[in-house]
Amino acid sequence: MFKLKHLTGLKDLSKQQIIQILDLSEDLEDVCSGRKKSNVLEDQLMATFFYEPSTRTRFSFEAAMLRLGGSVISMADAKSTSSAWKGESLPDTIRTIDNYANVIVLRHPEAGAAETAAKWSKVPVLNAGDGTNEHPTQGLLDMLTIRKERGGLDGLRVALVGDLKHTRSINSVILGLSNFDVEFTLVSPPELETSEWILDYVRRRHVSYTCTSDLRAALKNVDVVYVCRIQKERLEKPEDHERFKGSYVLNRAMLEEVPQVITVLHHLPRVGELSEDVDDYPGAAYFRQPFNGVLVRAALLEIVLGKA
Ligand code: NCD
Repeated sequence: MFKLKHLTGLKDLSKQQIIQILDLSEDLEDVCSGRKKSNVLEDQLMATFFYEPSTRTRFSFEAAMLRLGGSVISMADAKSTSSAWKGESLPDTIRTIDNYANVIVLRHPEAGAAETAAKWSKVPVLNAGDGTNEHPTQGLLDMLTIRKERGGLDGLRVALVGDLKHTRSINSVILGLSNFDVEFTLVSPPELETSEWILDYVRRRHVSYTCTSDLRAALKNVDVVYVCRIQKERLEKPEDHERFKGSYVLNRAMLEEVPQVITVLHHLPRVGELSEDVDDYPGAAYFRQPFNGVLVRAALLEIVLGKA
């Protein structure tokens, strides 16, 4: 296994490294479902330190650590219940927590916070989402989901739909997938298009992409559709939410208009952009996606803690 100190983003991971992470994730299925016991991390302690709300990311990290025999300390609401409320800086907080834990999982509202934390921490830092920048473990679990559902990643046509400007998990999945032979259709309102720095990576890796605001037309030519919510809390003008809301709702009827079965992903939570009538559509994968989060996070914990 390759050496990895921190994981702050997917932009610097190679195709080979991603494949190794996904392979190890799949090997951990029995352990992560509780069918097989593991004590590989029994002497290790993980701190989850979250300045923003979370359901899946924090719980799946904690489940992964516990399944591997490790221990967990958790700060679920760091903004109001940690010393951040008193004005402590991130570097000072990190230089404190790294005395208590062997690995830090950080979620923070500012882009670049994970890099800052990694710079100051003497233990590995795993980015659980930093502002509008990246959410690398989500990107990896999305890729694992696609690989499991479709049998591979090369040769796929992938549509990403919704607020592509502010959704960090979409940034990460684009950066990760652009190492493979894929084709992107980026579906969003013109004001919420994918950031230029992400498109720069895509172009540099010679991956083809098209930007459109026509979801119906896009569905005709894709194998995978990944829907994301409008990130209301990150819009420059919150009143714009009303205008964007409901502009990209994927429903069952739209999926049935095309002959192929499309794999449907969503990072969740969904808040109206993915109709509940898709839930029993054969390609709906978004409630299998969260278990893959446990697998990928378990693999990463083993890797950064030198046990893989
Ligand atoms: C996402 C996040 O926090 O970036 N959620 C998640 O981790 N599954 C996306 C979101 O909040 O919409």
